[in-house]
Amino acid sequence: VTGSVREHALSVVTGCALADKLRSAPSDLDDMDRGPVLRLEAPGRPDDLAPQPASVVKAPPLQGMADPAQRLRILHAFANHELQAVELFAWALLAFPDAPDEFRAGLLSTLSDEQRHLSLYLNRLEQLGVSFGRWPVSGYFWNKREHFSTPLRFVCSMCLTFESANLDHTLDFALAAERVGDDETAAILRQVHVEERAHVAFGMRWLAAFKQPTETLLQAWLGALAWPLRPALARGREFHAGARKGLGFDEEWLALLADARRS
Ligand SMILES: [Fe+2]
Ligand SMILES: [Fe+2]
Repeated sequence: VTGSVREHALSVVTGCALADKLRSAPSDLDDMDRGPVLRLEAPGRPDDLAPQPASVVKAPPLQGMADPAQRLRILHAFANHELQAVELFAWALLAFPDAPDEFRAGLLSTLSDEQRHLSLYLNRLEQLGVSFGRWPVSGYFWNKREHFSTPLRFVCSMCLTFESANLDHTLDFALAAERVGDDETAAILRQVHVEERAHVAFGMRWLAAFKQPTETLLQAWLGALAWPLRPALARGREFHAGARKGLGFDEEWLALLADARRS
């Protein structure tokens, strides 16, 4: 007996060791016993990775990539984003027991991608002599969990806002790493970028499935967002329209993102 998707998701979210976050799912988990709706309010964490208020978390901006010391803090922050993605895709499996089988299978496979991304950043940090938890981490994505109230809102907020923005972030930071000759870090960012495209595509596919037939994809996305989530958070400082090619964004949506500003 290898257990259920629910048990796997539960141990990923509630486990307090980093190993719990990274444990891969056996290939033959069954998804029959999905349990009741469970919306966990916080993850289990080792003490040094307990989410901290934004005021005590310092993540340097893109320009920091030129400075090796700041680059470490940036990598640490990227690892924290992946850690939260791991937990929140597992969270979604617990929160949406009634969602379609294929949707849940997609959540599970995205969860394992996020575990791989986390490992990539952690290995790079280790090569550079930094252990995860050396600096305080934020709970930025966990703090947005009220936006994940339905499968539709989950894909609109997580996949089509935060992961959409990460298409730009990963590209910008990869280019910055390449400019300073850190090709190992750049390669990781580029791999995450490519796999993030699949996560955005997953979001788009299920937005199409969950939306009202009378709405366009863009109308349905905008309708599912609540402040402070907004188009400006679905892109980076630079907007890479080309990185969104083939993912289902129509011209109107791309134009809206191109014009959206963070201020
Ligand atoms: Fe990721
Ligand atoms: Fe992702």
